[in-house]
Amino acid sequence: MVLSQIGAALDTLLEWEQGTAEPMLELPPDPGLGDAAFPCFSLAKTLRKAPQQIAAELARRFALEGVEAEAAGPYLNFRLNRAAYAAALLREAEKQPRCGTGETVVIDMSSPNIAKPFGVGHLRSTVIGAALYRMYAEAGDRPISVNHIGDWGTQFGKQITAYKRWGSEKKLNAAPIRESLDLYVKFHDEAPDDPSLETEAREWFRKLEDGDEEALRLWRYFVDVSLAEFDRMYERLGVSFDKVLGESFYNDKMGKVVDELRERGLLEESDGAQVVRLDDQDMPPCLILKSDGTTIYPTRDLATAVYRHDQLGAQKLLYVVGAEQTLHFRQVFAVLRKMERKWADDCKHIPFGLMKFEGKKMSTRRGKVVFLEEVLDEAAARASAIIEQKNPQLQDRKAVAEAIGIGAIIFGDLKNNRIGEIDFSLEEAVQFEGETGPYVQYTHARACSVLRKVSADSLTDAPTLPEALAKYSWDEASWELLKRLGDHEEELRRGLRRHEPSVLARYALDLAKLFNRFYHHNKVLTDIGHERTVRAELTRLAALRLRRSLDLLGIRSPEEI
Ligand code: ARG
Repeated sequence: MVLSQIGAALDTLLEWEQGTAEPMLELPPDPGLGDAAFPCFSLAKTLRKAPQQIAAELARRFALEGVEAEAAGPYLNFRLNRAAYAAALLREAEKQPRCGTGETVVIDMSSPNIAKPFGVGHLRSTVIGAALYRMYAEAGDRPISVNHIGDWGTQFGKQITAYKRWGSEKKLNAAPIRESLDLYVKFHDEAPDDPSLETEAREWFRKLEDGDEEALRLWRYFVDVSLAEFDRMYERLGVSFDKVLGESFYNDKMGKVVDELRERGLLEESDGAQVVRLDDQDMPPCLILKSDGTTIYPTRDLATAVYRHDQLGAQKLLYVVGAEQTLHFRQVFAVLRKMERKWADDCKHIPFGLMKFEGKKMSTRRGKVVFLEEVLDEAAARASAIIEQKNPQLQDRKAVAEAIGIGAIIFGDLKNNRIGEIDFSLEEAVQFEGETGPYVQYTHARACSVLRKVSADSLTDAPTLPEALAKYSWDEASWELLKRLGDHEEELRRGLRRHEPSVLARYALDLAKLFNRFYHHNKVLTDIGHERTVRAELTRLAALRLRRSLDLLGIRSPEEI
């Protein structure tokens, strides 16, 4: 808040485009020097003056309420009038951010595959996508989340074949994904020795595409049991979708796209398949129809994008999908551009890196498979053990442990730049110390507990907030906390600009650290009226901001831990 206002005032003064000066502002190494500094070196050339002289002139002309500017050599230092600034900030604290433009943003997120385990990539997509969704909504835009379930493709031929040969309905109902996976693995184990399996699988998929009744019935059944299992996970993660539209939804919508590609002369034959060449953009061709005439993943994404733009009214189309699909999305967007869809430029892949659990990779075919549900259970169990130790009296222990365990996983993901690789350690993530979700949750609960004590023991002649602010002497810990509390909207905007929820996770961590420092240095339950009023207000705002940040990340904030 401070920086953007100072930056805007400087832009006006220098007749610069708005937004130019703000990124040039620095934080002085020692807070005693002021609250922000503007180095004038880079202006020397264009203004043909010494930086010292520029700083001195700017200091004379700078005018912003509550902010004093002072030249110090080549720097222009800014110092806030703390009482005035605090009064303004606390007055505006409850205002809803409105940095959005009301645009419709369709967010493709989660999108697991039927009859396969919910992989860690899907977990990351769910958690990052849901955070972006809430951030857009908070900013005043209109996000629409879509779960693009992988419910179509040749693998269903294999699934049906394996089920017909070795499966049992009883086993499948009891543990749908595990049993589906076992069948799938068995298929791949046996296929090299038994070529009839692949033939049979192809036959079943063809039947499926032709609308054969038995094939469709079995397919529907696999879809239903898997979705039910995914829903359990979504419920624990606190995520829901505006639309669940699987790939199969586009079965009757791809023909039009393929026809258009053909009419525009974009389709070419290559080894019997139909492709769109992208040589002009240094990309391999985008496969549209396989040699047997069936459609494929990119074809479905073309139809999907057209649907999202034309039917859902998307002004921005985001795809929260692992970085390994970067080429796929570049190809799809390039084909849309060739189809003269101007809005192809509004399509954006939001990639993220791999996450390993204690060094183990999640895989769907063979080898070490880590099931998400087991990870969630384990996290909740560990959180429960820690709570048992810290606060055995706590009511509602089970719900709190679940909130902490799941929070640990979500935060352990979202505190990282999304593109980097994460080696996730559950052991670390559930701790109440360090850069963890539980640390932020715990700090929030601590602030709530202070507030409970304040209201249980109110002073008779407590001054009003303006009176108290006029008297309060700002120690560094109170002041730094207050300033950071004012950054909510700025951080939200920054996070959205980069599609990076970690900006908000970092902000929550900062706030938690600053609140703990403030609390360590300052007695809130003091008998000195004006101190209590200001400190209680800071505590209230800290709890509010911590809660709001956790909300946006999708993490619950119990009031007692
Ligand atoms: N189901 C796909 C997978 O697991 C992800 C789908 C991503 N969304 C999309 N529109 N292609 O790899």
